[in-house]
Amino acid sequence: MSYEHISVATEQGITTITFNRPKALNALNSALLEEFARAVEAVAADEEIRVLVLTGAGDKAFVAGADITELARLDTLKAKVFINRGLSAINALTQLSIPVIAAVNGFALGGGLEIAMACDFIYASEKASFGQPEIKLGLIPGYGGTQRLPRIIGAAQAKELLFTGKMISAVEALRLGIVNKVVAPEALMDTVMATAREMAAMGRVSVRAVKQAVDNGLNADLTTALRIETDAFALCMASPDAKEGTSAFLEKRKPAFTGK
Ligand code: HXC
Repeated sequence: MSYEHISVATEQGITTITFNRPKALNALNSALLEEFARAVEAVAADEEIRVLVLTGAGDKAFVAGADITELARLDTLKAKVFINRGLSAINALTQLSIPVIAAVNGFALGGGLEIAMACDFIYASEKASFGQPEIKLGLIPGYGGTQRLPRIIGAAQAKELLFTGKMISAVEALRLGIVNKVVAPEALMDTVMATAREMAAMGRVSVRAVKQAVDNGLNADLTTALRIETDAFALCMASPDAKEGTSAFLEKRKPAFTGK
């Protein structure tokens, strides 16, 4: 598949999608969002892909938000189309059964932070910065920022960022729990890939079960959520990979998961 505004590479079951409009700090225009949606769809259809990584091209930005040049031209109707295009790609991203890591190498602003927060977790470079600056444009986040940010850092911390539009450093994002890890810029991709390889070596059935149990459970009350976990556990128990994992432990050897 050929792309103009993103690039896609797969190595040893780990696919990396790179937002690639460095001159505009990888801002999300319609063309990029369409390509991103296609790439996510291709990942969803490929059973061999075990982990997805998202990052930004160049040394300045992950994604500096929606393309303001394009935003400025939208009327209400076109704005809805623009929002839906981005949201459907982001929803498809969250529906993937594999782990998704955001490798935030620079600015993650507006729609950029919203995409990163839709990933399973974020690793950041020391040079990264984060924010929801839409308020400064007379707007509000449109790709989930008013919903995911408070769920991650709590309503009060989120409201401060949303009301002021201020940018925070990677270290501050780490303190708030937006990112899992902060590393030197040159170490970012190696660190992300090491974690991706670790997850790719696990059984596919149990990785999928963890993801579904956490995500579906978070949207349910605790009783329902615990039932979701029980069902997921039972499903894993019946899998050949669970037989392999438990046998390997008892036989004091490394498991060789087949993904079944
Ligand atoms: C279009 C953008 C852009 C954006 C940067 N650029 N962000 N173009 N849309 N979101 C362009 C600049 O115009 C400039 O182009 C080039 O990228 C480099 O940016 P500079 O501003 O010169 O760089 P710098 O001084 O380092 O400042 C970086 C920055 C600033 C702090 C990130 O660019 C900035 O504030 N960008 C806007 C961030 C933002 O408000 N994002 C939220 C968008 S709304 P030229 O041609 O001049 O070199 C949003 C809503 C999502 O995301 C939901 C929608 C439904």
